[in-house]
Amino acid sequence: MRLTLIGTGYVGLVTGACFAEVGHQVVCVDNDAAKVKLLQEGGIPIYEPGLAELVRRNVSAGRLRFTASTAEGVEESDVIFIAVPTPPLADGAVELSFIEKVAREIAAAMSSYKIVVDKSTVPVKTGDKVAETIKRYCKAKVEFDVVSNPEFLREGFAVEDLMKPDRVVIGVRSQRPVAAMKELFAPFDSPVIITDINSAELIKHASNSFLALKISYINAISVLCEATGANVQEVAQGMGMDARIGRRFLQPSLGFGGSCFPKDLSAFIKIAEQVGYDFGLLKEVQRINAAQMDRFVKKIMETLWVVKDKTIGVLGLAFKQNTDDIRMSPAMDLCQRLQKEGARLRVHDPKAMEKAAAVLKEVTFVQEMNDVATGCDALVVATEWGEFKKLDLEKARRTLTHPIMFDGRNLFDPVEMERLGFIYKSIGR
Ligand code: UDX
Repeated sequence: MRLTLIGTGYVGLVTGACFAEVGHQVVCVDNDAAKVKLLQEGGIPIYEPGLAELVRRNVSAGRLRFTASTAEGVEESDVIFIAVPTPPLADGAVELSFIEKVAREIAAAMSSYKIVVDKSTVPVKTGDKVAETIKRYCKAKVEFDVVSNPEFLREGFAVEDLMKPDRVVIGVRSQRPVAAMKELFAPFDSPVIITDINSAELIKHASNSFLALKISYINAISVLCEATGANVQEVAQGMGMDARIGRRFLQPSLGFGGSCFPKDLSAFIKIAEQVGYDFGLLKEVQRINAAQMDRFVKKIMETLWVVKDKTIGVLGLAFKQNTDDIRMSPAMDLCQRLQKEGARLRVHDPKAMEKAAAVLKEVTFVQEMNDVATGCDALVVATEWGEFKKLDLEKARRTLTHPIMFDGRNLFDPVEMERLGFIYKSIGR
């Protein structure tokens, strides 16, 4: 099938590349001419495992191309995906002006029947607004359908999530686009659920909020574990073996971050408020998440007593592993808090140092993770990168001025760390 993705951010670019990979003819559109040029020249603006190879392969096979012209993208395709940002506003609501602008641009360029699919995360009822807008601004009297197809990819695992989705949600206002949408997703061989458009939009916010709730739940349990001498990893394992609960997203941490959970929680609370429901449960999820970072910082302060003029090594800057994304990153927040307390920082991240350098000032970026500890008063693990588990602990112990480690991701075994001579403080153990 011929399809166009408008917006080449995480969602648009990876989705476009994966659709091309399964044989569709894909045009990716972005209004950022510099980004389009970079992509046309074979560059990739983000780090995502497997993405560069996927894009290269499909561009050379002639199934994937990039343009800055929305009109061109609309003309050439039958199905148009909107995958533009929906950033948060100051009051927690969602900025929808990019969606509205793209809807107008699509309307202006339409000369035959199109299926317009919203992939961006939007408040319930946005699909109706998009349909209204297209109808209003469409010059040619052509028919169209608006569909909601929320995206569930995780950064760092985006290609994997898209190629093998747990489910594909298709929200429609009429039956007409259903067959084409099913055909589009047929090569992915995953369960497809057809819903009304409002339900599809709600599924996205309800899912992300539930996952955030799960993390806050285990983080709250970690507080109880610390107070009672229990081990949160064992509690999570025991809970997770109940198939109704499941082990995933029960990993305690210094809090969740990223461009989705914090934003989607605020948005969902706001959406609920607008329809007259106080979603107190989700406000508590936010509160627990903020408290988790506060508790971690307090742990560092209490152990080091005075942080001012101490040197602290930080492993991890990205908001999670396998990505260079630092948006709403707990690791970045932690670095800034430690700096505010007067600490000097030596930091390392396998992929995010370039992006972090634009934000973090007066820190030492260390290229090799095993060199971070040198001369530091303590070492902190802030991101769950797999390679950090292979840290040369013996060297870290020797090169730290005092063998103190704060592990915000529970990457190491407390018994082993003590055996190696570390003062080791993690989460809920
Ligand atoms: C999330 C959803 O998982 C995805 O389905 C949706 O489409 C977009 O939002 P993403 O933000 O890329 O994806 O990352 P995710 O793996 O969900 O992690 C989010 C944050 O939660 C990270 O900061 C991560 O470190 C943290 N996290 C995750 C935990 O603290 N504990 C966990 O058990 C899982």
